[in-house]
Amino acid sequence: MNYRHAFHAGNHADVLKHVVLLALLDALRRKEAPFFVLDTHAGRGRYALAEGDARKTGEADQGILRLSGAAKLPEAVEAYLRAVAAHNPPGRLQTYPGSPLLIASALRAQDRLAACELQPQEAEALRTLFAGDARVAVHARDGYEAVGALLPPRAGNTAFARGLVLIDPPYEAQDAEYPRVLQALRDALRLWPQAMLAVWYPIKQGRSLRPFLRKASGLAAKTVLATELHIRPDDSPLRLNGSGMLLVNPPWRIEQSLATATAALASALGEAGHRAETTWLKQETA
Ligand SMILES: C[S@@+](CC[C@H](N)C(=O)[O-])C[C@H]1O[C@@H](n2cnc3c(N)ncnc32)[C@H](O)[C@@H]1O
Repeated sequence: MNYRHAFHAGNHADVLKHVVLLALLDALRRKEAPFFVLDTHAGRGRYALAEGDARKTGEADQGILRLSGAAKLPEAVEAYLRAVAAHNPPGRLQTYPGSPLLIASALRAQDRLAACELQPQEAEALRTLFAGDARVAVHARDGYEAVGALLPPRAGNTAFARGLVLIDPPYEAQDAEYPRVLQALRDALRLWPQAMLAVWYPIKQGRSLRPFLRKASGLAAKTVLATELHIRPDDSPLRLNGSGMLLVNPPWRIEQSLATATAALASALGEAGHRAETTWLKQETA
């Protein structure tokens, strides 16, 4: 396993993923009842933008840093910028919060996060980050196996009726990753059918994604939505031309705000041929 998220922190894929993640958390926070989040591929939780691996690639320059200079943005994107700014000194962007840190910052006293990370050094960094937070459990383990082991979630006497599973794998061997993602989705739906499930996926050549999206549309859930940010035409198998979030059981009426947010992201971060697309893969019929 060679993947290190530090090289990519704050890039356009993180921007899309974390805008959508925060919109899902916002929907969960609207009700008082506790919620549980399982982050299957958590990373180390916090990344330095101004030095080290992130500086070597400069990917954040075309992502969060470019966005910070944009004019007024839709509320979902502004909420994301505020969430990132909360982990930085006023007016400066030195640190990028990864998914477990963004999730932990959105938890209330009654909510819980389980964050899984397979790479020992990354898991250790994550453990240190959350050492003082009893709401967060860090698991140095395979996130796909954790779906079977940790769901349906319980904490003491609390069984969680609501929550979210975030699946954000590295896709180092793409052919191997998609079947595992689909199996994890099937397992999660069987064990915790009422949960929202969110999967990040890379877009290189759009047509190679069709089998995955077709299989996702056949999941045993009432609704499946895909929201995509294309930075440039999806015609090269070598470049990350964009990315998408597959949402199973998304919150009621979220599609319009995601369509607005991704359209603004495409204009702010895109090159020639950029576009945004939010599509129902499976929709409840009246
Ligand atoms: C794309 S990064 C995660 C980024 C993070 N979700 C975020 O948004 O900040 C993928 C992470 O998954 C880890 N990983 C790879 N295979 C894994 C597995 N089977 N189970 C858990 N973690 C895994 C990698 O070490 C890497 O840190």
